[in-house]
Amino acid sequence: MPSFRVETPQHCYSAIVERGVIGQVAEHLPKHTGKVFVVSTEDVWRHQGQALAHSLTDVPHEVLFLPGGEDQKRLAPLELLADEMVQRGGDRSSVVIAFGGGIVNDMAGFLAAIFMRGIPVVQVPTTLLAQVDAAIGGKTGVNLVSGKNLIGSFHQPFSVLIDPAVLQTLPMREYRSGLYEIVKAGIIREPALFEYLATHSDDVLTRKPGAIDRIIEDSVRMKAEVVSSDEREGDLRRILNFGHTFGHALEAETAYTRFLHGEAVAWGMRAAVYLSELTGHLSAEDSVEILETIQLYGPIPPLDGIPAANLLARLVHDKKTIQGKVHFVLAVRIGEVTVVSGIDDKLVLEAIRSSLV
Ligand code: GLY
Repeated sequence: MPSFRVETPQHCYSAIVERGVIGQVAEHLPKHTGKVFVVSTEDVWRHQGQALAHSLTDVPHEVLFLPGGEDQKRLAPLELLADEMVQRGGDRSSVVIAFGGGIVNDMAGFLAAIFMRGIPVVQVPTTLLAQVDAAIGGKTGVNLVSGKNLIGSFHQPFSVLIDPAVLQTLPMREYRSGLYEIVKAGIIREPALFEYLATHSDDVLTRKPGAIDRIIEDSVRMKAEVVSSDEREGDLRRILNFGHTFGHALEAETAYTRFLHGEAVAWGMRAAVYLSELTGHLSAEDSVEILETIQLYGPIPPLDGIPAANLLARLVHDKKTIQGKVHFVLAVRIGEVTVVSGIDDKLVLEAIRSSLV
């Protein structure tokens, strides 16, 4: 059973990658737990709930639903759910199981962070993107109209249970969205993973179990290492934002309705690669190789009609902007990135324009 340790000042836990682990969730709950609240969406519960419900047969639990969709990732639904938890017997000994994709992981994690000033959350991600990124590392929160994830908290999970078998029925668009995060993992720190993705796209896209397990394990190991070294994103963890600064601008500009998070990140990585080359950080050869590999896992939905100037204006509202300075994660070579600020807006605009065509 591949298991990757995340060791942070707040909490140390394992991210377990194992086919069938959804059927063993009860074994991974905290001891002497009170009422368990499974937080999911109706859609996820309909498709994947049976195995989890079976595992919880002997555990007193309730199932609560969040609305799906990035545009619904707001504070209001959490207040309703917290009230429901109280009415259904929730107290300080309760535990949340976050069962769903990245939006559920972020929202249910935040609910656990603030319910009665904090109760444990077990993350059980059901999309590829959530399995390799959102469920690990304790970032929880919701969006504001002004920007993505602008309210939130670091709330490390009690454990993370990743079942690659659930991905066989994941819609292709959702699957691709997660693959882009895995391409990111390769670019920022895992050259062998990048090489595998560049040369085994057929196996990955047809979801051969060996290929899926390998790319998930590499990505989870990398994320566990990075979060263990820098829980609060003061230093190394910033590399995980490669493509995200641009991507968040695109999501906000399109009111969170047109692109899945991974698709926005895929476009954002293209923009970051152009900027890396324009600023002299990345060779033309590596730039082409990265852009071609992103393309292998495409297509990214078309971006036509989105003005480059609007995206540039959005960048300053990202929460990674500190005292008005936008920090960009730029590629130096495949497997290495650096964080740079103070880049001339003209170059940023040129990178955005190049990536839009
Ligand atoms: N998704 C980026 C991070 O967890 O830091």
